[in-house]
Amino acid sequence: MAKIEVNKVELVWPGKYNDDGTLKEVPRVRLPFQVIETVNESRGSREAKKTKGVGLFDVYDGKEGDTFEDGWKNKLIWGDNLLVMGSLLEKFAGKIDLIYIDPPFATGADFSFTTEIGESGEEITKAPSAIEEKAYHDTWGAGIESFLAMLRDRLVLMRELLSQTGIIVIHCDWRMAHRVRMLLDECFGIDAFLNSVVWVYGESARGAKAVASQFPRNHDDLLCYRSGDGWTFNGDFVTRAFSIEEARQRGFRQDGEGRWFKTAPRGDYTDESIARLEAEGRIHKTRTGGIRIKYFLPVEGGKVVERVPVGDSWVDIADAMHMPEAEQTGYATQKPEPLLTRVIRAFSDEDALVADFFCGSGTTLAAAEKLDRRWIGCDLGRWAMHVTRKRMLGIEDCKPFEVLNLGKYERTYWAGVTFAARKSDEELTIYEYLAFILKLYGAQPLSGTQHLHGKKGKAVVHVGAVDTPVTIDEVNGAIEECLAVKQKELHILGWEWEMGMTPYIVDEARRRDVKLLLLAIPHEVMEEQAVEKGDVRFFELAHVEVSIKKAGERKLQVKLTDFAFPYADLIPEDVRDKITKWSDYVDYWAIDWDFQNDTFMQGWVAYRTRKDRALSLESDVHEYERHAPANVMVKVVDIFGNDTTQVFPVEV
Ligand SMILES: C[S@@+](CC[C@H](N)C(=O)[O-])C[C@H]1O[C@@H](n2cnc3c(N)ncnc32)[C@H](O)[C@@H]1O
Repeated sequence: MAKIEVNKVELVWPGKYNDDGTLKEVPRVRLPFQVIETVNESRGSREAKKTKGVGLFDVYDGKEGDTFEDGWKNKLIWGDNLLVMGSLLEKFAGKIDLIYIDPPFATGADFSFTTEIGESGEEITKAPSAIEEKAYHDTWGAGIESFLAMLRDRLVLMRELLSQTGIIVIHCDWRMAHRVRMLLDECFGIDAFLNSVVWVYGESARGAKAVASQFPRNHDDLLCYRSGDGWTFNGDFVTRAFSIEEARQRGFRQDGEGRWFKTAPRGDYTDESIARLEAEGRIHKTRTGGIRIKYFLPVEGGKVVERVPVGDSWVDIADAMHMPEAEQTGYATQKPEPLLTRVIRAFSDEDALVADFFCGSGTTLAAAEKLDRRWIGCDLGRWAMHVTRKRMLGIEDCKPFEVLNLGKYERTYWAGVTFAARKSDEELTIYEYLAFILKLYGAQPLSGTQHLHGKKGKAVVHVGAVDTPVTIDEVNGAIEECLAVKQKELHILGWEWEMGMTPYIVDEARRRDVKLLLLAIPHEVMEEQAVEKGDVRFFELAHVEVSIKKAGERKLQVKLTDFAFPYADLIPEDVRDKITKWSDYVDYWAIDWDFQNDTFMQGWVAYRTRKDRALSLESDVHEYERHAPANVMVKVVDIFGNDTTQVFPVEV
């Protein structure tokens, strides 16, 4: 093994260096983003986009401007932040003004979540998905060293995304703060350190902490570094009001004119400055002849008011458990919004671009939105995406934002890395892909058929391609072949589906006497560990039914009439017994009144909140501008955060 030259102070861990003594490279992947949803986009900007002739997948082209007037839309991105940041570099290198991250601490609370069901709000805890478990394992599987390796890779990408005047703030607790600070020294430079803010989240200890034989641990650390010179800093102040008696006790005094003041040492004031302050009546001479500076304190409502700059210990922001109920999202690791408000206000100005690549319940994004900053948020968890989307919708006048992922590009990348690397022949690569999916589904490969790839029990199986949605023609082809080989049951496995396929195709198959099952290929198949553990389950597609009624000239109204939830057996039996109606599984539903085969544009929405569990199953009336055929797209998000969309063609 080569010798590693140690010529500076740095933190090392097993696996940081290659065997030849070189530093491990940061994995860099650049993939295009798919825009899967736009929220609060104006009709005008959509009409403008329509003329560009976008296809079924609306790929983010990054050509919008940097202001809302120029078409900027805030971004909520679903995916592993390593792939996401790598892919953002092309458009956003050197463009982000402030990054705050709150990476998972080894608390185990990172990925499981509590969700509520129906009007009763009955709570269940959903175990992490295999992908989330993998992220957790990647982060903590080998303890401290895997956390450090995970964070270092990401810090390197964040440094490239930050502007020359950018700031990064990392939220840590006692477990990691000292190590992360060394990592930041290494990635940004020792001189780039600005603050280690101590956020005291509670005065008194709770539970086991209180009885431990040590001081209670009641603070987190916010490590703040700059990427260059000329950064923004807007100091903050807190005001405190004291009764006359309290003011005296604190050593505040009154001058001959009855004005209250406090004093401070002259510090590094020059003699000239002291002379100027003396002329202004702001010098206080002590009995021993010393000089102190006077700071006058106004009296308001009979109280002496002191305004003090906020230093690097913050004791005035309570933890998430003590926040007003309306602010609580139920996300286990949610941080209080006032904390993020202070960070964002201090280190950025209006219109600045703020990012959080471990955004969880979206606290940073909510604070940035309210402070008129632009934002980009990313999280791996489906539930985090859902909680954040609802949270943003709850903000009055929330500006347009879009939800993106790496979707089919991530899958194509995975298939390339997994199969193509081993095979040079494209046909063999596809064969390997099909064989892999069939094996996970528990099916045997079939040969000599065009659309039928496998057989499972009595059913024949068709597997959809990795990079395109399963089409109606494709399913029809499989039905034909199923009949030709005299079979009566057909299972179609797919990643994505052509719009308008259900329920039409299932009825069509039934008419031809074929029992058709449409099953989603789960994300987990891309995770080696999930595959190895046999954790991959294929669920039937969820299914939405609506009735659409004419509510006047060019006016329609949609009523949600049924939702088939395929994941019921993931709910503990005792809770399942209490679920009485299908709508209990629906947490959120939305309508795109005129779906254009590109991105779901939310035109109307209803959802449950922690406080208000009611959900209207009938939409508002929508008025169209003209008589024409339209596609009404309905999106239902279930209690686990899964989206199901279905298109319903209408004549207006
Ligand atoms: C401590 S929580 C953040 C909580 C957040 N500050 C809030 O106020 O809600 C950490 C988040 O990081 C996400 N996460 C962990 N590993 C990730 C990865 N590799 N890529 C993206 N997100 C990740 C988790 O899903 C989790 O939501």
